[in-house]
Amino acid sequence: MSNSGMFPGISGSSAPDMPPRTHTPSPPLGNEHVVSDPLPFERPHREGVPEVASSNEAPSTAPQVATQLLTDDGLVAAPVANGPTGRPMPVFPEPTPLTQHGHARVISMCNQKGGVGKTTTTINLGASLAEYGRKVLLVDFDPQGSLSVGLGLNPHEMDLTIYNLLMQRDVTLDDVVVPSGVPGMDLLPSNIDLSAAEVQLVHEVAREQTLQRVLAPALEKYDVILIDCQPSLGLLTVNALTASHGVIVPLECEYFALRGVALLKTTIDKVRERLNPRLEIDGVLGTMFDGRTLHSREVMDRLVQAWGDKVFHTVIRRTVKFSDATVAGEPITSYATASGGAESYRQLSKEVLARWHDA
Ligand SMILES: Nc1ncnc2c1ncn2[C@@H]1O[C@H](COP(=O)(O)OP(=O)(O)OP(=O)(O)O)[C@@H](O)[C@H]1O
Ligand SMILES: [Mg+2]
Repeated sequence: MSNSGMFPGISGSSAPDMPPRTHTPSPPLGNEHVVSDPLPFERPHREGVPEVASSNEAPSTAPQVATQLLTDDGLVAAPVANGPTGRPMPVFPEPTPLTQHGHARVISMCNQKGGVGKTTTTINLGASLAEYGRKVLLVDFDPQGSLSVGLGLNPHEMDLTIYNLLMQRDVTLDDVVVPSGVPGMDLLPSNIDLSAAEVQLVHEVAREQTLQRVLAPALEKYDVILIDCQPSLGLLTVNALTASHGVIVPLECEYFALRGVALLKTTIDKVRERLNPRLEIDGVLGTMFDGRTLHSREVMDRLVQAWGDKVFHTVIRRTVKFSDATVAGEPITSYATASGGAESYRQLSKEVLARWHDA
């Protein structure tokens, strides 16, 4: 099935005539797009390397190296402990309350690899930004509908979804938006219907700009719009990237996560060149990090070598609380408000606001 002239060979993994989607990356692009991943991971010789078995709740035991920094005047700044990325951990400013809303920054949560924390990050970054007074719209742009389910919606009881907004001219954004249960945060829900859009959009004029068109009225109402992408680089994801100012790439801190990142970067570069010149990579987020394992720390080192300052200082540690919160249908920031996971997403929201110069 071909669904995009611009990205030949990329097929949505969720089209209705396809078998149920599993967490596998999309098929590679044609030869011109095949690129090797940067900094291939060298498997370490593990014999004799003491390594603590992973557990559900992983406290930080990564080496905390005190570093002395020179200020601009050449003075020694206060000692700063290295964070989990191996770099000195900055102190992020407390976000200031906003007096007016609008001019939303649109962010795609994107990685064609499945199960890396895109949906978890969309829910919890959104909820944390809302705690800091930002008006947030979450867009469930995955036919799996995990974002909607993760916020307590029943996929079979939705009258209107983002599918209707994309495909029916008489449906407006206000018809489809629902409250998320978190004050200050709304949701554009989705369910399996969206998989049909990937096929139907192929025949539309300006098919890559469809999401951008329907989100336009939301830009003046919200401060942040977070789009939860499906694990594929098909037409829906190209729509999300075209509608966005920035991309956040969640990456699980394990070896296979490093594979396929080059392909994702190539896709982002192409969308920037051909459809959306303003598109930036806002950051790469290490998820499911376990600071007690050498493996997690090595993957983090590789990420920093490959992506430099794009890697967020904040990392999200592995904890079962995220699955528990999903079952409860709410963000971890309200389900386990004082947990490490909730605090990490609050810190991430401060870090992204600082990056956007919005703190
Ligand atoms: N930091 C974490 N620690 C432990 N479990 C996590 C963490 N982040 C996410 N999970 C769990 O991992 C699973 C996959 O996470 P999530 O659904 O956010 O990934 P995804 O990238 O959106 O997946 P998909 O590609 O299928 O959309 C979920 O069960 C979630 O609860
Ligand atoms: Mg998801």
